[in-house]
Amino acid sequence: MTANEVRESYKKFFEGKGHKIVPSAPMVIKDDPTLMFTNAGMNQWKDIILGTKDPGKDVRRVDSQKCLRVSGKHNDLEEVGHDTYHHTMFEMLGNWSFGDYFKEGAIDYAWEYLVDVLHLNPEDLYVTVFEGSKEEGLSRDDEAAKYWAKHVKPDHIINGNKHDNFWEMGETGPCGPCTEIHVDSRTPEEKAKIPGRELVNKDNPQVIEIWNVVFMQYNRKADGSLEPLPMHVIDTGMGFERLVRMLQDKHSNYDTDIFQPIIQQIEALSHQQYGFTTPTGKLGEGSTEQEKIDIAMRVVADHLRAVAFSIADGQLPSNAKAGYVIRRILRRAVRYAYTFLNQKEAFLYKLLPTLVHEMGAAYPELPAQQELISRVIKEEEDSFLRTLEKGINLLNADMDELTAQGKTELPGTQAFRLFDTYGFPFDLTELICREKGFTVDEKGFDEEMAKQKARARNAAAVENGDWEVVREGEQAFVGYDYTEHTTHILRYRKVTQKKNTFYELVLDFTPFYGEMGGQVGDQGVLVNDDETIEVLDTKRENNQSIHIVKALPKNLQAEFMACVDTEKRNASAANHTATHLLDYALKQVLGDHVEQKGSYVDPTTLRFDFSHFQKVSDEELRQVEQLVNQMIREDFPLDEHRDTPLEEAKALGAIAIFGEKYGDKVRVVRFGPSCEFCGGIHATSTGRIGFFKIMSESSVAAGIRRIEALTGKACEDAIYAATDTMNDLKAMFNNTKDLKASIEKFISEHDELRKELERFQAQAVERTKEMLLSRIKEVNGISVITAVLPIEPAAAKDLVFKLREAVPQKLVAVIGSTAHNKPLLTVMFSDDMVKEHQLNAGQIIREAAKLIQGGGGGQPHYAQAGGKNIDGMNAAVDKVIALANL
Ligand code: SER
Repeated sequence: MTANEVRESYKKFFEGKGHKIVPSAPMVIKDDPTLMFTNAGMNQWKDIILGTKDPGKDVRRVDSQKCLRVSGKHNDLEEVGHDTYHHTMFEMLGNWSFGDYFKEGAIDYAWEYLVDVLHLNPEDLYVTVFEGSKEEGLSRDDEAAKYWAKHVKPDHIINGNKHDNFWEMGETGPCGPCTEIHVDSRTPEEKAKIPGRELVNKDNPQVIEIWNVVFMQYNRKADGSLEPLPMHVIDTGMGFERLVRMLQDKHSNYDTDIFQPIIQQIEALSHQQYGFTTPTGKLGEGSTEQEKIDIAMRVVADHLRAVAFSIADGQLPSNAKAGYVIRRILRRAVRYAYTFLNQKEAFLYKLLPTLVHEMGAAYPELPAQQELISRVIKEEEDSFLRTLEKGINLLNADMDELTAQGKTELPGTQAFRLFDTYGFPFDLTELICREKGFTVDEKGFDEEMAKQKARARNAAAVENGDWEVVREGEQAFVGYDYTEHTTHILRYRKVTQKKNTFYELVLDFTPFYGEMGGQVGDQGVLVNDDETIEVLDTKRENNQSIHIVKALPKNLQAEFMACVDTEKRNASAANHTATHLLDYALKQVLGDHVEQKGSYVDPTTLRFDFSHFQKVSDEELRQVEQLVNQMIREDFPLDEHRDTPLEEAKALGAIAIFGEKYGDKVRVVRFGPSCEFCGGIHATSTGRIGFFKIMSESSVAAGIRRIEALTGKACEDAIYAATDTMNDLKAMFNNTKDLKASIEKFISEHDELRKELERFQAQAVERTKEMLLSRIKEVNGISVITAVLPIEPAAAKDLVFKLREAVPQKLVAVIGSTAHNKPLLTVMFSDDMVKEHQLNAGQIIREAAKLIQGGGGGQPHYAQAGGKNIDGMNAAVDKVIALANL
């Protein structure tokens, strides 16, 4: 079976068991502060598992989820490349039961699929069950063991500890015991030597876990305790790449048709051969040249996928958070390609067409954005390669200096500086150093690293208390229809950030919009007869509005009126609606390749990022503005469709954003011809925007442009400011009626005057020259001209060259100029003075300029030096003559 067939067969099997096939969520997570990337299939169902969202009728689902395990609790980055079965990005096949079948059903289905459908040999399968944990107060999962006993022999059931058999999403959140299925794919001879059960979870590359079936039963709270979940959930995750490898009878994931096309392309481009994976699947430590090449090829093939999929999901490499993680993955790949595949120029982006060819059918976001992904990767590669060169030069200079001091160890501080400033990981520094016979102080490096981590921790530390429940219930968001509503507090928690303390509240009914989709959260108040609590901001977490307040109300049980600050909200709403019109107009004017790549709106800001591959011309910008303003004047009403099934929304022609997470039901927002998927707060009609004006257009990254614009009142203010400037200018020109003509006249007069001044100066230089020629002093047959004059620097230069023209031989001329009280020394020697008398104007002037507290230099025949001490001018001129030693 090909990889694509395996993916399909899994989905079809579970569809046949009543599961709905659902798409993968984006790999990059945008609205969960605890997680940057999807690291497990269950992330997108977290709300359902925790009971804050109703699963609806589809309580059985199946999918293939794009996952990335490169940060936080599940981080495989450093392993990748060095073994045959870890990846940064991988696909996780999952079947889900939300309060439907539980342990028995999940085990039966898993067995049926592996043995009856895929025909894996039951003798090769081992399963683990949770052995229990005293500290958690949990006993062994006898239930799972009992159901497994229906299918496998007793010696194929193995107890596993909390680390392996109690799955947790992160420090907090859904968790529960799990059962893992491991496959022994060793040769019969090896199997005869050691039974497979002894190699389970022992890092043997041929006895690996392929499927994890989690019985979600608890929520881990911030204080470490376990709280039972409202319903039992089945969350299974099967490693797609590992499964394909078993089915294709390979010894390494990289030998399957998932990776081979990319590896072959790497071979072709780098003119290197990928090695052969032995049946033991064991790889060397990377000590031979071939092993290094193989590791590099695996790293590149793996990281290309992670980076390309992230960019497709809207996450560009950057210096912060998720963007920084992507940048690091990309740089790790560049570094391996640079060092071991000898790729000194951008290279990864050339592999993209192969990836798109292989995976584009299953993940259409890749082909749709291929050009953008390619440009972004290439630019990142180019810029990192430049950094790499700089870092290497710096490191070489450091080593030269150490050699001069007779040392052969690079201090940890220097290695850390390379890491911190130039992104050099320790092993790269070590590698370069080793080639020159240097060692690196690893302990010192680790110490610096620890110091930096401590600094970062202190800067970012946010401590969330546990939620305290005031009353049971779920939140209802009423903000699309109301800006005021009665409300009660359901839950609150204390949050401490950088020594500041505030509280977060969940209300039963709230009109407050929590920050999402680039639109800021609402501000406002909670008010009743006794008190007024200011809501400083509202954010969004797990699909709820979280209200941020400085202090808790005195009476937590009381009823409040929740009132949104409507002036601010209306201004943000107008800006948000304007981004929709802008998106529409950009597609009309520039073409359909325009994709929204980010936006930010608050009461005064409107920023919109989009893919486009060159500067937008002034004329195009004007057309876009005109189109938007026309749509404003048409006053299209907000036509909103809440809870529209996804397919219906697509049929309406609504525009979705790549990398956004959409549920089964979406909200569609339409204003005339503009129609988008959107959960934001909008103006009631486009007329409310008032007016739209683009203020700037710039580049944010390769292939991504940014427009900043103003609407409504802000436009009005901008127009006043521009009019005021215009009036001030007119006033400067005696309130002229035609400002443009007056300025043109002014500029041409100015040009005329400048030319005239230059003519006068040239005449003055000519007269001065004549005067100086009449006063030449002869010293030993040499014509010596010295003078201190109030002339401009350019005129001084002009003058000495004219003197040399008049006296081409045996000339020494020294002019001290004092114009504007700025001393300047100018020295000219005729060529024969340089050749025969070995005079050097550049050297002499450096010495003489000390007398005017200055410095300068030049060529042997001509030099100039400025200074600070005008009183030293005469002495400096004399000094030149003295040093010339005529
Ligand atoms: N959540 C489990 C895992 O990620 C099973 O899907 O391994």
